[in-house]
Amino acid sequence: MQEFHRKIRSFVRREGRMTAGQTLAYESMMPDYGFEFNKQLLNFEKLFGNNNPVTLEIGFGMGASLAEQAANYPELNFIGIEVHRPGVGSLLARMKEREVTNIRVISYDAIDVLEHMIEDNSLAKLQLFFPDPWHKTRHHKRRIVKSEFARQVHQKLQDNGVLHMATDWENYAQHMLAVMQQEAGWTNLSATDDYVPKPDDRPVTKFQKRGERLGHGVWDLMFKKDTPHV
Ligand SMILES: C[S@@+](CC[C@H](N)C(=O)[O-])C[C@H]1O[C@@H](n2cnc3c(N)ncnc32)[C@H](O)[C@@H]1O
Repeated sequence: MQEFHRKIRSFVRREGRMTAGQTLAYESMMPDYGFEFNKQLLNFEKLFGNNNPVTLEIGFGMGASLAEQAANYPELNFIGIEVHRPGVGSLLARMKEREVTNIRVISYDAIDVLEHMIEDNSLAKLQLFFPDPWHKTRHHKRRIVKSEFARQVHQKLQDNGVLHMATDWENYAQHMLAVMQQEAGWTNLSATDDYVPKPDDRPVTKFQKRGERLGHGVWDLMFKKDTPHV
């Protein structure tokens, strides 16, 4: 009998309905700011029309944080990846509202986009804010942060490039830290070798506020890719 291996994904598709505003933004802005999945490496200079450093965000949700960050840092380029299409529509609507032009968007599994479309040693930063925590132990295998992921990100970052993660779920923060501590080639940017204070460039979002309101905190982790010894 043929064995069938299905990839374990970090999300469950929940298409949901797009609002009229999200649909309008999606249809009018995807041709200029979106790109489709294919197995060809992206040329960042062509994609953005400049050579500015590129930050890639996985799972931007409704895009509030990414739109604000891109508006605050016009000298940087951003690639946003989100499987949830209403979220993509929402990000595009926010971009239009704020006249943000330095984001390119794709609605696809980030793991596949990283593998097939992002050149090795090309990203200045990769950010993962409040990824689905998959609370139940039997679902932990769905967590995006695992050693394979850390290695994939390492391959795609430039030397001295940074992986920035944030979560409001302590158990996931501990898991992120444990995964990263086992991997070679990273320097933890925490002075205490665990978490960093919220950096100014990460906008405050609903998860941040929820964490604070519930009194269970938010944990930021930042790791720098080491320069290889020659
Ligand atoms: C809990 S939400 C957080 C959203 C956002 N970062 C925020 O802080 O509001 C996690 C998001 O990651 C997206 N996601 C999970 N796995 C993904 C993957 N492999 N590729 C792209 N998006 C993914 C989900 O669709 C979801 O919108």
